[in-house]
Amino acid sequence: MNEIRNLINITDLSTEEIEHLVTVADDIMAHPEAYQDMCAHKKLATLFFEPSTRTRLSFTAAMMDLGGNVLGFADANSSSATKGESVADTVTMAGCYADIIAMRHPKEGAPVVAARRTTVPIINAGDGGHFHPTQTLTDLLTIHRKKSRFSHLTIGLCGDLMFGRTVHSLIEAMSRYEDVHFILISPPELRLPDYMKEMMDQKGVLWEECEKLEDAIPKLDILYMTRVQKERFFNEADYIRLKDSYILTRKKLGPAKADMIIMHPLPRVNEIQVEVDDDPRACYFYQALCGKYIRMALILYLLGLK
Ligand code: NCD
Repeated sequence: MNEIRNLINITDLSTEEIEHLVTVADDIMAHPEAYQDMCAHKKLATLFFEPSTRTRLSFTAAMMDLGGNVLGFADANSSSATKGESVADTVTMAGCYADIIAMRHPKEGAPVVAARRTTVPIINAGDGGHFHPTQTLTDLLTIHRKKSRFSHLTIGLCGDLMFGRTVHSLIEAMSRYEDVHFILISPPELRLPDYMKEMMDQKGVLWEECEKLEDAIPKLDILYMTRVQKERFFNEADYIRLKDSYILTRKKLGPAKADMIIMHPLPRVNEIQVEVDDDPRACYFYQALCGKYIRMALILYLLGLK
């Protein structure tokens, strides 16, 4: 029997596997009709114990565009979690009905616990403030399509670097490439966790911290904005004080490179003004589109179909 492959952390995929997924996603974008029946009679369970719009909808659209079916729940309150069922039991049960599972949970490590028990592949669609590997695959497909390279890039990560799981997974992935330099732009309270900095140091990755977005903007090839993660704060007053730390406006983009790209995993709150959406460098909605195609490639790969 083949070993089941899960995607819990982006480090579960080798660089070759990541690049294979990007290549397949490119091909799906060019020839969607060639893939439309590849998951016929297969089922994806989406178990979302925490709110989601893009991730859940893009997983659903991905499975539908592969000709498969989707079942699941979008709210822990409509699942037996409210009766006290453990995550492991809910996920084990879902494995009786589906061929592959995408799950999101507010507790860090929940998908690891789930993966120990199930006999179908588990995809981590976000675990607390920890990791979000499929957003990273989405981000990588976007970077590949807009910048045509993963190396020789200066990447500004701005906002909530402490709790922003998309940032953690993106750093893990991009740290593999040559001459990638991270500028970590955040208020002191929301700095990147030390374990991430230690990981970068071990790999010899260049990084620096700064507080002012304006100081970093002219140097960047990619500006990755993030939302302050309200749901991870213990104290509402802290959230209110920090939530508008960064607001990207058209004016602030003045000194940016002409080919810099602006990314955001979305949802945005205030951190990118709507006026920026018309700037040709803004690619956060394109990024959301990429999310469907890379998830199609991932589902095929984990099911051993491509
Ligand atoms: C992100 C998440 O859930 O971590 N959203 C997403 O999946 N696109 C980012 C966020 O919620 O801020």
